[in-house]
Amino acid sequence: MSLSFTRHRRLRQSAAIRSMVRETVLTPADFIQPIYVTYGEGVKQDIKSMPGVYRFSLDMLEEELLEIVSLNIPAVLLFGIPETKDSVGSSAYADNGIVQEATRLIKSRYPDLLVIADTCLCEFTDHGHCGMVHTYEHDGELCGDVLNDESLELLVKTAVSQAQAGADIIAPSNMMDGFVQAIRGGLDEAGFSHIPIMSYSVKYASAFYGPFREAAGSAPQFGDRKTYQMDPANAREALREAESDVLEGADMLMVKPSLSYLDVMRTLKDQFDLPLVAYNVSGEYAMVKAAALNGWIDEKAMVLEILTSMKRAGADMIITYSAKDAAKWLQDGGR
Ligand code: PBG
Repeated sequence: MSLSFTRHRRLRQSAAIRSMVRETVLTPADFIQPIYVTYGEGVKQDIKSMPGVYRFSLDMLEEELLEIVSLNIPAVLLFGIPETKDSVGSSAYADNGIVQEATRLIKSRYPDLLVIADTCLCEFTDHGHCGMVHTYEHDGELCGDVLNDESLELLVKTAVSQAQAGADIIAPSNMMDGFVQAIRGGLDEAGFSHIPIMSYSVKYASAFYGPFREAAGSAPQFGDRKTYQMDPANAREALREAESDVLEGADMLMVKPSLSYLDVMRTLKDQFDLPLVAYNVSGEYAMVKAAALNGWIDEKAMVLEILTSMKRAGADMIITYSAKDAAKWLQDGGR
């Protein structure tokens, strides 16, 4: 009897065969764990919309770091919640700023754990925008324009002070034009030509950052971020953003958020040969957690499926709040 169809199921018949033909394999070496650090003592504070994620004061970090290192997660991404905020985000580039102090502490305790510093001003400005703002009143309401070139100077200061504190990688997330060129120049001039830039190249103005803004207290006090972050409707524009970053000297490109933008990741992966980073953001984490806590989904299977899909779409590494959980599940056999 001649067959007119292909037996695809031959390669699916056992776990052993499935594992031999698997195209995408997730490992803890792919993960970057974000950490929120804050001032004070004895602080391990819940973030309501992100169960399992905390704000830590520096004296409370040890347990978290030990767990990350024991799970073979190679890197952490630091976000700081400062004690004071002002219009120019001074505590973002203070030598004793919270991210700088956390970096020193982590590098002294775990020199091999990579510290990636998020370089932005929104957690440190009283208005919550990612750059310097010109404010004015319009019909009795406070408004403001985010000033591009004036902000670059502050971002360079921030990146240099993070490198001085010992950050291994600088990750600028502010979406000002020219930020990679400015920061590259500033780092080189300050003697940090060996420090790579992981650029948040394609960052959308997304509703998926909601829980982060609760965690970091960084919701904009007026307006929104649509004049600097990208329109979720645009994919070709992502190529232009990425191309600028490549020309300006970025070492790695990022797409953020990730889950709703897998098409954009695949395009970037095919067009550019720099390592590609996926950011599985706070809202993506919150959705899965909420459904899991209701008993509506199988959390482990869903998280591993989501992370695998990001890698399949082209991510070389994934920033994810699920890093510790996923690393544990993979250790226990995962999938
Ligand atoms: C800072 C920054 C944000 C995130 C990472 N860096 C927030 C924003 O742009 O509003 C979001 C991360 C997340 O949602 O997990 N600009």
